[in-house]
Amino acid sequence: MISTAAAAAHPNIAFIKYWGNQDDQLRIPANGSLSMNLNGLETKTTVSFNTDLARDQLILNGEPAGADALARVSLLLDRIRRLGEVTTPARVTSENNFPTGTGIASSASAFAALTLAAITALGLCLSEKELSQLARTGSGSASRSIPGGFVEWQAGVDHDSSFAASLAGQEHWDLVDNIVVISREHKKTGSSSGHQLARTSPLQAARVADAPRRLVLCRKALMEKDFEAFVEIVEQDCNLMHAVMMTSTPPLYYWQPGTVEIIQAVQSWRKDGLNVCFTIDAGPNVHIICPKSAAAAVKRKLGTLANIKSILTCTPGGPARLLEPEITGV
Ligand code: PMV
Repeated sequence: MISTAAAAAHPNIAFIKYWGNQDDQLRIPANGSLSMNLNGLETKTTVSFNTDLARDQLILNGEPAGADALARVSLLLDRIRRLGEVTTPARVTSENNFPTGTGIASSASAFAALTLAAITALGLCLSEKELSQLARTGSGSASRSIPGGFVEWQAGVDHDSSFAASLAGQEHWDLVDNIVVISREHKKTGSSSGHQLARTSPLQAARVADAPRRLVLCRKALMEKDFEAFVEIVEQDCNLMHAVMMTSTPPLYYWQPGTVEIIQAVQSWRKDGLNVCFTIDAGPNVHIICPKSAAAAVKRKLGTLANIKSILTCTPGGPARLLEPEITGV
């Protein structure tokens, strides 16, 4: 028996960040978070459950994946197999349309696409909320790549209460995210270990306690398309997360000299009247966000910066979606 389905999902950029868990196994986050899906970047994943296979297989961008990546995928597949009451192994093939090794995390789009494809291949029909809960167990931020547009993940306290939902569709606000790649190096500490270090920072409790205030302000700025208010809360939230990272034991320093150069450039462009803001995930690359009306001017300014490897330009993206499966050799 072979049963196959394929799905695609976008990664997302968090405006209010997820950092640290209440439950590391289930990835129940310490605080709620808010993000935008990134149109232009996408993971496409095909899942084939096949009774002839001895064990799960994972092919990432045309190459067999390492043991750790396969084990993480199998853990999510096991959860999905339990729902479908089967034990059949699966072959998973996954491709990113953004070059690998650009330092752009793909776990959100990867686990969102994997969840939707695997559930569909088993003939199960789940709600968006249930898909988001499942994707969360693979990678926390994947819960936010299931719904479309601008998305909030409510932290919750257990598996059932921790899931993401759309606040507004992708057409709501024509924001542009220019991802400025300054390093293509693979990060030394991935986010799964980073989340576990968060609780060692004396600043994490304060960051988490203040998260509801930041979520209110960010939600309001987003719904009212108030860019000035948006800038203030998004940059503060980013800096709070990096302050926790830098004060963990051992400390995590994701910023490089180029990261700080771009932060300072963004501040000076803003002083000159440009609507622009920065945010940074668990790596040195900088997301430069602006309204579409400022996008051409921001692109010109970015052209004046030295030491940039590449720039990926994204607009708000839709939800995870099903694709026609391409039948690959098993
Ligand atoms: O989903 P993870 O475990 O890769 O964690 C994502 C963490 C950040 O990207 C740094 C923040 C976020 O909310 O996306």
